[in-house]
Amino acid sequence: MQNVELLSFATADELARAAAAAWLNEVEAANRAGKTYSVALSGGRITQKFFTATVEQKQLRNISFANVHFFWADERCVPPTDPDSNFKLADELLFKPLNIAADKIHRLRGEDAPATAVMVAEAEIGRWVPPNSDNRPGLDLIFLGMGEDGHIASLFPKASGKNLDNSASFLVVENSPKPPPTRISLTYKAIFAAKNIVILVSGAGKEAAFRESLKPGGRTPLGRVIQARPVKIFSDLPNINL
Ligand code: 6PG
Repeated sequence: MQNVELLSFATADELARAAAAAWLNEVEAANRAGKTYSVALSGGRITQKFFTATVEQKQLRNISFANVHFFWADERCVPPTDPDSNFKLADELLFKPLNIAADKIHRLRGEDAPATAVMVAEAEIGRWVPPNSDNRPGLDLIFLGMGEDGHIASLFPKASGKNLDNSASFLVVENSPKPPPTRISLTYKAIFAAKNIVILVSGAGKEAAFRESLKPGGRTPLGRVIQARPVKIFSDLPNINL
């Protein structure tokens, strides 16, 4: 499948370590080129392992994060202090250990009215992320996880059609099948616009959704991303071949 580079690992820990090493290489290359670097993070269990592995490896390698700007692929509409907050997850496991400066963290304001938070997020990403050839903010990298239903960010199977046409960078998701119910997510078009996409697929119960996503015409949100552009997938699911 030409759009997919699939790297398979025996365990979630091995996956997290490999993804962390690859990302640190990207940050190092951006530093060498004297470029700022913009990344959008996701939430979820594998992300926790990934953040921890990144911090461990960063301590061993002299790589600066001073030029890295942080955004999110999605956020739950909860306060930043809430255990469900994707910002809180990153703040505790990544930003505090790496001493990331506050002006490099462009969080989605889950505590605000969702429509207001989307407007603020739209302006923020437009201010900090240079446009690509389609005049959309072209993030250097978006990290995505995949859910048991093949969702990515907070783009779920049932709403796909409506969301595919949304030309903004962010949208509000109500009644999410994955709690909490209200979320803010990058749109498909915003995801398609990124320079690079890395997807961390980890955890039991995801085989069927992953296989469907890898099929030509696969009818999951991950499948729609794969059909639209190249992606790099780190997976710990067994027996998955392209
Ligand atoms: C979220 C995430 C979501 C997550 C997947 C995978 O805010 O819930 O962004 O898209 O990445 O559901 O989560 P797990 O790694 O925990 O299975």
